[in-house]
Amino acid sequence: MGEKVRADGECFHIRTHVSTADDVVYILRRAMFLDSVDAIREKLSCLYRVLAQILEEKEIQVLEVRGQFPVHIEHLMGEIKQIMDSYTVDRMKYYANRLISSLTVIKTSKINDLNLNRWKEYDEIKTDSLWLFDRRSKAGSHLGWYWGNFIPQIPHQLILRYTKTHEWVFDPFAGSGTTLIEAKRLRRNAVGIELNAETALKASERINKQHSAENTVNELIVGDSTQMDYTSVLSDYGISSVQLIIMHPPYHDIIRFSDSSRDLSRAPSIENFLDKLRTVAENCYEILDRGRYAALVIGDKFSRGLWIPLGFYSMQKLTDVGFVLRSIVVKNYEETKGKRYQKGLWRYRALVGGYYIFKHEYIFIFSKP
Ligand SMILES: C[S@@+](CC[C@H](N)C(=O)[O-])C[C@H]1O[C@@H](n2cnc3c(N)ncnc32)[C@H](O)[C@@H]1O
Repeated sequence: MGEKVRADGECFHIRTHVSTADDVVYILRRAMFLDSVDAIREKLSCLYRVLAQILEEKEIQVLEVRGQFPVHIEHLMGEIKQIMDSYTVDRMKYYANRLISSLTVIKTSKINDLNLNRWKEYDEIKTDSLWLFDRRSKAGSHLGWYWGNFIPQIPHQLILRYTKTHEWVFDPFAGSGTTLIEAKRLRRNAVGIELNAETALKASERINKQHSAENTVNELIVGDSTQMDYTSVLSDYGISSVQLIIMHPPYHDIIRFSDSSRDLSRAPSIENFLDKLRTVAENCYEILDRGRYAALVIGDKFSRGLWIPLGFYSMQKLTDVGFVLRSIVVKNYEETKGKRYQKGLWRYRALVGGYYIFKHEYIFIFSKP
């Protein structure tokens, strides 16, 4: 009984002292001075109950972490439970120290800001090669107005994985500016090139509408990506290289973006399309920092009843110029605005023609050695 009162008193003490992750760390550190499994368990069970109460009574989901993003209370409880469920003091200390590090020490790689000590908490970051999205993200100033755009989740994933805050992203086929808007949301600088002036103007309006927590450059330039001098484009911003390239070219002639002969979607043949893509890839290669990443988003096409592996042909062009293939991601592909109303017709054609309807596209991920 005396023990219980003491334990309740200790719990009360903990309760009045837990309002941030720092407090949790303090209690964990103190618990690690104890030298028996039972004593540590008792102390941590108080902490666990207190966190459960905060979650329930105060309806707070997260605790602030100094200099980092907040931590979910449920996650903390899971980690504390793992410590309590351990059978030796050494194991308990191992898990406790790991949790303490995650809340106090930031460990990042050279290519992004993800805190590797908190890798378990990045639920939104994809690490599998199959990306299934059931709808476009509604976050940010994207409108999805452009026929042939990609969903914001693609640049979102790539920018978080392959850049740090304030680094530079380059998009040579910028279209409606999805990459630039997403870069701005994520506090990265970005430059895009788009052939079609009208598209670029509308895209720039949307980019300007996007709020930014910081002063970043997010600009779209009208021009031909096969012809422009990329180094001089970058020099206007006082930089000579970028840290991530996202290429989303036309899928040859599947969508004709303009009447211009410079438009890759007007290339008279697949060979000509691939030659132009190679030129853009060469230009991109020159301005990418060594050890950094480039992504090519593209799908296949049909021609005269044959499946043309445009994605793999294009991938080959990038490896020809020196990029090293790191991953092939397959992403589900729902009907574009153009095809939505023709769904039944496509199914009929597929049944008659003995082929399958495209439901996927590729995100090829490369690095520059
Ligand atoms: C598949 S779209 C990119 C869409 C973009 N990711 C978005 O979300 O809006 C390809 C874009 O490349 C542009 N384009 C085609 N040829 C080009 C060239 N030679 N230089 C620059 N842009 C070009 C087209 O006008 C089109 O907007």
